[in-house]
Amino acid sequence: MRMETDRLVLRPWRVDDDGDIDALYRYASDPLIGPSAAWPVHRSREDSAQAIRGVLSEPETYAVVLKARREPVGSIGLKPLSAIIDPSEEENRDALEIGYCIGSSYWGRGLIPEAARALLRHAFLDLGMQSVWGTHDVANVQSSRVMDKLGMGVVRTRGHVHLALLGDIYRDETIRRITVEQWSRDTRSRAAETV
Ligand SMILES: CC(C)(COP(=O)(O)OP(=O)(O)OC[C@H]1O[C@@H](n2cnc3c(N)ncnc32)[C@H](O)[C@@H]1OP(=O)(O)O)[C@@H](O)C(=O)NCCC(=O)NCCS
Repeated sequence: MRMETDRLVLRPWRVDDDGDIDALYRYASDPLIGPSAAWPVHRSREDSAQAIRGVLSEPETYAVVLKARREPVGSIGLKPLSAIIDPSEEENRDALEIGYCIGSSYWGRGLIPEAARALLRHAFLDLGMQSVWGTHDVANVQSSRVMDKLGMGVVRTRGHVHLALLGDIYRDETIRRITVEQWSRDTRSRAAETV
């Protein structure tokens, strides 16, 4: 699957592609990125190659490619709900969880909201999801702003969540969601505003 927005192409990561490995290593070796998203800083190019072969090859995971640069500058995806969300049976039905990050030199240009809007559209219209969830550290203002812009409301918070990939680290997490009904309503009202 490939998606296109004004400034971006979302496409699968390319396993064993030197360009993709270098592009991932450039931002994933920056301590400002991984730990905020609950994964460790990449210490070597091999860490990045392994991530592309592993977690970034999972279904519905996309490289965020800036058209102007023709290389990945971030990543975005939809995955099964994490244990942090601890969903009820009802909440778990036709639901996926969004995750994203982008290199710090691209912050603040609205690129992840642009990518995420395309991904939400795909989740609801192509994949038939009933809801898309997201979680972020309560102190992660940047991610919180992205989810505000996407119309993802706060459902609950969970204290003292163990972030296993980071070792002995615990954080309080905000848990958010947008349902297909909310998304359709927001999409209709945005379309009406532009008429
Ligand atoms: C969260 C993240 C994906 C946001 O992506 P983005 O494309 O920069 O999103 P936006 O342009 O909408 O900016 C979001 C907010 O970041 C903040 N921000 C903008 N530029 C910034 C900068 N240079 N430095 C720090 N914060 C900045 C602002 O609060 C902004 O909100 P605003 O537009 O209301 O002012 C990005 O900051 C990131 O990759 N962070 C590290 C990984 C991470 O936290 N992932 C999410 C885990 S839940």
